[in-house]
Amino acid sequence: AAGLTGCGGTGGGQTAELLRSRIPLPPKFRVPLPIPPEKKPTRSVPGADHYDITQRVREVEIVPGYRTPVFGYDGMFPGPTIRSRRGRTAVVTHHNELPVPAVVHLHGGHTPPEHDGYPVDLIHPEGWRADQHGGHMAGDTRRGSREYVYPLDQPAATLWYHDHRMDFTAPQVWRGLAGFHLVQDDVTDALPLPHGDRDIPLMICDRAFAEDGSFRYPALDPSLRHTPGVRPEYMEGVAGDVILVNGAPWPTLEVAAARYRFRILNASNARRYRLTLRPRPAGGDSFAQIASDAGLLAAPVPHDRLDLAPAERFEVVVDFSRYPVGTEVVLGNDLGSGSTADVMRFVVTRRATDDSTVPSRLAEIEPLLPGPSAVRREWHFTRGVVHGHQGWTINGKPFDPHRMDARPRLGEVEVWRLFTDLHHPVHIHLSPFQVLRRGGRGPGRFDGGWKDTVDVRPAEFVDVAVRFESFAGTYLMHCHNLEHEDMAMMSAFETT
Ligand code: C2O
Ligand code: CU
Repeated sequence: AAGLTGCGGTGGGQTAELLRSRIPLPPKFRVPLPIPPEKKPTRSVPGADHYDITQRVREVEIVPGYRTPVFGYDGMFPGPTIRSRRGRTAVVTHHNELPVPAVVHLHGGHTPPEHDGYPVDLIHPEGWRADQHGGHMAGDTRRGSREYVYPLDQPAATLWYHDHRMDFTAPQVWRGLAGFHLVQDDVTDALPLPHGDRDIPLMICDRAFAEDGSFRYPALDPSLRHTPGVRPEYMEGVAGDVILVNGAPWPTLEVAAARYRFRILNASNARRYRLTLRPRPAGGDSFAQIASDAGLLAAPVPHDRLDLAPAERFEVVVDFSRYPVGTEVVLGNDLGSGSTADVMRFVVTRRATDDSTVPSRLAEIEPLLPGPSAVRREWHFTRGVVHGHQGWTINGKPFDPHRMDARPRLGEVEVWRLFTDLHHPVHIHLSPFQVLRRGGRGPGRFDGGWKDTVDVRPAEFVDVAVRFESFAGTYLMHCHNLEHEDMAMMSAFETT
């Protein structure tokens, strides 16, 4: 393996191993940015919209001239975008026509436990023989399809759905199982932010390609093995040399000289990004951040660079009227080098009227204030021994879906202190949290608002305040470096 010596050669803290493509890399900035199509409900009833999604293998052209088989929601990568309104239930029935079991998790969803995609609550494809493939760790398994009910009683936010099968999340997401689920509400709709075709989701992820155009991944056919799909040399996580945005390599988007809202998601297995605009706009910061993982910030935060760990979302407004018409603006990645130093390109092609603004107040955010008697828990994310092999552990233990590591009480604010040996993007299911402290100081530049994933950096601790609400049951906290997750860096807790 072409190792990245632990930091991507940039000192920026890349911890993944680089997997190189075995086809010539496609030229940059040639393909237009695709926008994932919106999913239409199969039917709507008072208070709820019903959707049907079929997970299946399909060949798609990602690199011009090559066919890539993907595991796709409706055969697409990214999957179709679901758009919901706060308080309107989305009922999504997933039909599994893949050659492997699947689990669907709505990341950032305030979801009852039986619909949250617990990693052993599998949807087996018809004809799947669990006994042939190791039917251990049985959960609430269904055959053929499963209905997921999402109440979505939560503020507007950029959520995403992806696979969560125990031990196989990384290879299954790598093969394409990820899509956007956008929640809207009246508070956000009333703001004069850019909207319509100037409100664009950007799913950024990296991949590597084999000689035949298929995705490269360390295990050739993890679906047919009982063991996790990662070889030890990739235990840091898998990174590719091709950057995709909405499934296209280094695409281009023609924009008007106006403000755009971008909903940026890092859907990579293990790669972190430091996004910048090249050239920088005249007079001012590149990005106005308006929202974080779980919704609007209280007020916009200006940034010249955006640090994104896997699974984090940043919503930003970019004002292209600060560039002369004709300017080509590259969305760069300062943590990458060579092919991975660029993400996509904008071309400012025309003047336009623009009545959008970025208001100086965006939303009311209730601060989570832990009282003196608040429950405090410590979680150590470190290398460790997992069933006799090297793996990743939390408090020294590998994931066991039947062991509860905490029993937080619903409605109470707790403080969770997250310690790490390396970079670990820590994600907590069910309820968002607020960062109280990072490395002994206050929250960092990228920690504002309601978060559901926080990048904990080497030898650092982060304190978060969290208050679980509404649903009693079993949920997860885990590292969202998906190889780390598959190598057991996950913990179950039960809200009571
Ligand atoms: Cu985005 Cu538990 O996952
Ligand atoms: Cu990790």
